[in-house]
Amino acid sequence: MLIALLPGDGIGPEVVAEARRVLEALDLDLSFEEALVGGAAYHATGHPLPPETLALAKRADAILFGAVGDPTCDTLERPLRPEQALLALRKELGLFANLRPATLFPGLEDASTLRPEIAAEIDMVIVRELTGDVYFGEKARHITSDGRREGYDRMSYAEDEVRRIAIVAFEMAKRRERILCSVDKANVLETSQLWRDVVNEVAADYPEVTLTHMYVDNAAMQLVRNPGQFDVILTGNLFGDILSDQASMCAGSIGMLPSASLRAWSGENGMYEPIHGSAPDIAGQGKANPCATILSAAMLLRHSLDQEAAAQRIEAAVSAALVAGARTLDLGGTLSTRAMGDAVLAALN
Ligand code: NAD
Ligand code: IPM
Ligand code: MN
Repeated sequence: MLIALLPGDGIGPEVVAEARRVLEALDLDLSFEEALVGGAAYHATGHPLPPETLALAKRADAILFGAVGDPTCDTLERPLRPEQALLALRKELGLFANLRPATLFPGLEDASTLRPEIAAEIDMVIVRELTGDVYFGEKARHITSDGRREGYDRMSYAEDEVRRIAIVAFEMAKRRERILCSVDKANVLETSQLWRDVVNEVAADYPEVTLTHMYVDNAAMQLVRNPGQFDVILTGNLFGDILSDQASMCAGSIGMLPSASLRAWSGENGMYEPIHGSAPDIAGQGKANPCATILSAAMLLRHSLDQEAAAQRIEAAVSAALVAGARTLDLGGTLSTRAMGDAVLAALN
């Protein structure tokens, strides 16, 4: 089994290195090939997603992605920016289904900014649509005929795009507590009204799942009021991006949340990455929490390599390390990225 490692920028290489060490400790028949992506690729080759990187991503059985983003690239024309590489990989590989589980690991109640008894209830999966929405619509920045600067980004969803992600969310809910909350802004946006109509149609095939709809502004509030009410959240690309960062802090830290980006309910050739970015403010200092990436490696084993037992071994090791008191700075501790990786390795049974 070939795993493509795309470490990227900032803390990406630091956290991917720890996830690799954990994967290598499992005694599975895995091989690794690394390629440049993001700002690192732009500086080396002039493009954030070189053809050889895309080819490796397509050839590999699964992709472990670190993060992209480099402040020195923020003024480049948009196609050359690091983030475009990630968006292009998602689009090119058809990875429309982004699973972002947010659970509170035992002992992390004190790391959450919520009251411990409220944080303790967090156990949800955000199912985020990943290849549509305002991210991929027509966009431009220009001067209008009356001389004003204007920018726009077109938000749209087609019914088949909504249906396939809704199916993923219902299938997920079926295997969990069978409670699905679809989040939109149907009181204002036509895109969201279509979203809501199609989700209701798909619901007819899942009578065992209780479906509710919530406006995104209320959802943001409910996430900090009572996150325990959520089992599976289904939402679009932009709302899912925002709500998942918020959910991560409720669960202790953005350094804890993994993700899987899949092409269907089964995860053949998926891409796995922490939900966080390249964190330029702490890059190169050994301060990053590698757990989100280590847990992404567990998702990779589960969804793309059919190695459920190995995935659970990793998750149990992260949990045991945290219970034993291992903490990076974001969790209120003192461990370096490498020392946190060591703690997970030491807890691996
Ligand atoms: P960020 O997620 O990189 O960082 C936000 C804050 O969280 C920072 O204070 C950072 O230090 C902290 N943080 C993030 N990950 C952490 C970890 N593992 N351990 C400890 N602390 C962690 O978001 P940002 O600052 O808005 O963006 C920085 C760059 O990353 C931008 O260029 C952005 O476009 C990019 N970005 C990339 C991805 C991705 O590759 N998937 C995701 C988000 C942002
Ligand atoms: C994420 C990131 C990306 C997104 C950016 C870097 C394109 O924030 O993976 O959450 O918005 O999807
Ligand atoms: Mn994000």
